[in-house]
Amino acid sequence: MKIKVLFWVVVYFALFVVALLNNLEVSGIYKFILALLGLFITLYALALASIAGRTLKRYAHKEPGSGFVPDKFTRFGIYSCMRHPMHLGIGLLPLGVALLFGNLGAVLASGWVLAAAFWFVLAIEEPETIESYGSSYIEYMQQVPAFRFSLKCIENGLYALKQKEATQENSKVEVSGFEAKYYDRLMDIITVGWYPKFIKGAITDISLNKNAKVADFGAGTGRNAILMHSFIGSHGEIVGFEIGKEMQEQFIENTKGYKNIKLVKKSILEPLNEEEKYDFVFISFVLHGFTKENREKIIQNAYRILKKGGTFVILDYNEFNVDSAPFIFRFGIRFLECPLAEEFIKSDLEELLKQKGFGDFRMKSYLKGHIRLLKAIKS
Ligand SMILES: C[S@@+](CC[C@H](N)C(=O)[O-])C[C@H]1O[C@@H](n2cnc3c(N)ncnc32)[C@H](O)[C@@H]1O
Repeated sequence: MKIKVLFWVVVYFALFVVALLNNLEVSGIYKFILALLGLFITLYALALASIAGRTLKRYAHKEPGSGFVPDKFTRFGIYSCMRHPMHLGIGLLPLGVALLFGNLGAVLASGWVLAAAFWFVLAIEEPETIESYGSSYIEYMQQVPAFRFSLKCIENGLYALKQKEATQENSKVEVSGFEAKYYDRLMDIITVGWYPKFIKGAITDISLNKNAKVADFGAGTGRNAILMHSFIGSHGEIVGFEIGKEMQEQFIENTKGYKNIKLVKKSILEPLNEEEKYDFVFISFVLHGFTKENREKIIQNAYRILKKGGTFVILDYNEFNVDSAPFIFRFGIRFLECPLAEEFIKSDLEELLKQKGFGDFRMKSYLKGHIRLLKAIKS
């Protein structure tokens, strides 16, 4: 291992010397174009090396956390896409940096670093790995290329590192801490100001009637309750159900000027004993954070507290194919959202609602069908 590290120190040092000795510099617009290309290659190389390192740390050790050198064969995550992402990253990094600084001598010399990376893999790494893992590695060599230049590999490598079991414990639906404290602001910033307009439009699309009694499941900061208030007027009522401490505090503070908006500090998973009291139950971006079993409990609760003919309104992800969805949705669902979200997206929500006594579905979709407002009537 020490010799391998020494090899790379020597190769990098040789390149550094070339960069210092040469005085060939590009200028003007070419410098700018090369710098952009250099930035891209540098980031790509760093992402490759970092994702590969983390994947090996997590999946290539018989005992988790047992030293630096892998002792278990893995073809997980980025390793399902190419055999040597780490070496490709190490090989490409000098080229990226040389382009970034517009140092032509170093750009030319970095070709030798890439060649060194390929030689190192073919002459040193692969024979050693075949010796350690035998036929399973040979089979892997036949199926997966040594190197591949692909952004999709980086993306899938990232998702694999985030992958967790789709359990309630791993769900992030009980928002807390920093995320809860600045929830509304974060939503506005992450969506570059799109979210406030969207949620206002979606709440308008519910068609709440004047004087309606509304239960808001997982009510958050009270932003939705205030938007709904303008439709129900002063004789209706909105009751938010919320268990997050930071969310409860904001709900109370934000809605203190409204006499007919109340907060119930109760979980929507517990049986609610206010039978047939509400005209609407609204649940916005909450249901996708629960297991199927818990979704059933929430739907049963909605059914119990709705008046006959009352409407259950679900604003959440629509059913869609995450693999073929635009990058922004794939990234949101697989990297930012909790593991249960993808399972929710694949599930047949209307069928579940039907089983629990709801019917007469109406749907409005947003963002090219990736989000929907589903209205279901208690029959
Ligand atoms: C993603 S946020 C959505 C908040 C709000 N509905 C909105 O659209 O802005 C999910 C909310 O559900 C709340 N929540 C999670 N589990 C809950 C439960 N079992 N009972 C009540 N609220 C819950 C969280 O604390 C959080 O405020």
